[in-house]
Amino acid sequence: MKPRSSPDRRHERLAAEHRRLCKRFSGLAAKFEKALRLRDSIQRELASREEELRHIFKLNASLISVVPCDRMYDMVTRIAHGLLDTDIVVLRLFDSENNALRVVSNFFTGSNIIRELPDIHKGEAISGRAFETGKAISVYDIDNDPVVRKMKLVRIIRRQGARSILSVPILFQGKPLGVISTYCRRPRAFTPKEINLMRVFASYVAAILREAEHHRQMHLTYFNTISSLVLTLETRDPYTQGHTERVTKYALLIGKAMGLSAEDLRTLRYAAEIHDIGKISIPDFILNKPSSLNKLERHMIELHPVKGAQILGPLEFLKQVIPIVRHHHERYDGAGYPDRLKGARIPLLARILACADSYDAMTSDRPYKQKLSFQQAVREIRRNAGKQFDPAIAALFVKLLKKDQGA
Ligand SMILES: [Fe+2]
Repeated sequence: MKPRSSPDRRHERLAAEHRRLCKRFSGLAAKFEKALRLRDSIQRELASREEELRHIFKLNASLISVVPCDRMYDMVTRIAHGLLDTDIVVLRLFDSENNALRVVSNFFTGSNIIRELPDIHKGEAISGRAFETGKAISVYDIDNDPVVRKMKLVRIIRRQGARSILSVPILFQGKPLGVISTYCRRPRAFTPKEINLMRVFASYVAAILREAEHHRQMHLTYFNTISSLVLTLETRDPYTQGHTERVTKYALLIGKAMGLSAEDLRTLRYAAEIHDIGKISIPDFILNKPSSLNKLERHMIELHPVKGAQILGPLEFLKQVIPIVRHHHERYDGAGYPDRLKGARIPLLARILACADSYDAMTSDRPYKQKLSFQQAVREIRRNAGKQFDPAIAALFVKLLKKDQGA
């Protein structure tokens, strides 16, 4: 018969059981705590991923429809600034003609703004090295890096207060297209997560750049077709041969002297090259009529800017150009056609084109009139400043023409 346990032994067993349960409980509590920490970390990670994705989708949605590249580049630097909350962002793209990385946009916080950053070559400074190696490069503190601080191009950005750098290559299918460099005005160790975020962002930028380039090429093909049509039109009228080319030259001369943006200059060039596309609807006998036009014929001639705008209307990528084509025969005093717009209500580029177009018409022989000499044409532009032409543009154009003629 088994002897009954004494109270001491029973107490001992219970105490051992208690210790075992306590140990197990503390193990479970530790596991639970660990699980809670893991859950918090996953939640934080998800929230952070969401933020990344939000930025990336914002970029994708905003940029994919944007064809003018300058605005697109500015958007890239603005978003890159927001992603890592840095002080300076510089976007450089590889320019194969000059074999250099050209700055296409920069974003600065504060009042220090450098307008011109020099081009850099592959392997040069931090951005050039990131481009050449295809790898992200970060510098914690320029001042404490004896090699980096001596780099000429780093010194330029250091003068803007930059202390730390992160340069990430923009790679499309392994091929580098450019570099996004972001700078802080304090020493900063960019974490692997931040570097990865910039890599993901750069890969989206690469895809969008390719897409934009594809669109640009397609638009160029369309545009060249229209432009060839305009040149073919010139052959219907022997008196206007070379007109489009000269008008484009004069318009760009004025536009550049006015300091227009690259995007406006591009719009102006497109508009100048196809401004008379609407003449396709005018019969040859009216275009080439040596005597004065009757009322109906004049009406048909005056319809050509409207017809031009209608022809180009469906082409979304020319939406900036269409108003210039429509209004290139408006007069500053409101007596022009087709809409009798006056003064600043006429688009600026149309006012420039009007000056360039009229000067070429004055200095070319036409079936109904002989051309004016240079001096006569200049007098005519001056006489019509404030009437037919925007006075500021007319004065500038005369100055440029005189300089061009060495007068
Ligand atoms: Fe015209």
